[in-house]
Amino acid sequence: MRTPVVAANWKMHKTQTEARQFLADFLPRARDLAGVEIVICPPFTALAAVAEGLKGSQVGLGAQNMSDQPSGAFTGEVSGAMLVDAGCKYVILGHSERRRLFGESDQVVGAKVRAALEHNLTPILCIGETLEEQQAGQADAVNRRQLLAGLEGLTAEQVAGLIIAYEPVWAIGTGKNCDPGDAQARIAAVRAVVAETFGADAAARVRIQYGGSVKPANMASYMAQPDIDGALVGGASLDPASFAAICEAAR
Ligand code: 13P
Repeated sequence: MRTPVVAANWKMHKTQTEARQFLADFLPRARDLAGVEIVICPPFTALAAVAEGLKGSQVGLGAQNMSDQPSGAFTGEVSGAMLVDAGCKYVILGHSERRRLFGESDQVVGAKVRAALEHNLTPILCIGETLEEQQAGQADAVNRRQLLAGLEGLTAEQVAGLIIAYEPVWAIGTGKNCDPGDAQARIAAVRAVVAETFGADAAARVRIQYGGSVKPANMASYMAQPDIDGALVGGASLDPASFAAICEAAR
């Protein structure tokens, strides 16, 4: 049985003060949510405040990006060791906004995944097709390409332990969430690629989230799908009641 995992991607939202206010409201709601792994990924500047606020709770801390380099003259970058030092256990890698707006190639994302694993961080590897690619019938092919580059050089055991997030780009922040049956089909295809490349055991264990306009009202329909193991949530994770309702629906 795979434990469902729900992660909040706050993107470029929330100051330290706002992050503390979120936790004061969210953590009492999350106290009874046994059986679901919950992760909060604030911006870098709020990592320390959220790490402090999460002490003694079951909720994990993640970052939204990291460098593939260990240290050095890389102005504006943050290393895996720095994330571990800040209390992170997870890191989102290859989000479509990083790929599209900041030019991250499939190969760079793969290098980041390997660097994260060297620091024992759990990567949340994001993949997903654009609207044009979907309309051209290329969704599974795009996911396959991004997945294989993202997992390049890993062992089956490493793959089994990480998290994949299928986020169709056209569903992100648009309110047009992917039909749950379609998300199931895409994610089953992703799991099949893992099975083919890393074996049946890794495919059975790796957790695959859906992301893209997840809301309290649609979360249960994703969780009802056999291959969907949770969600990566943007907009609806900014509000404590809404994020708690999504976590509740993942149980
Ligand atoms: P929304 O939930 O706002 O659509 O964002 C999804 C996302 O990009 C999470 O990483």
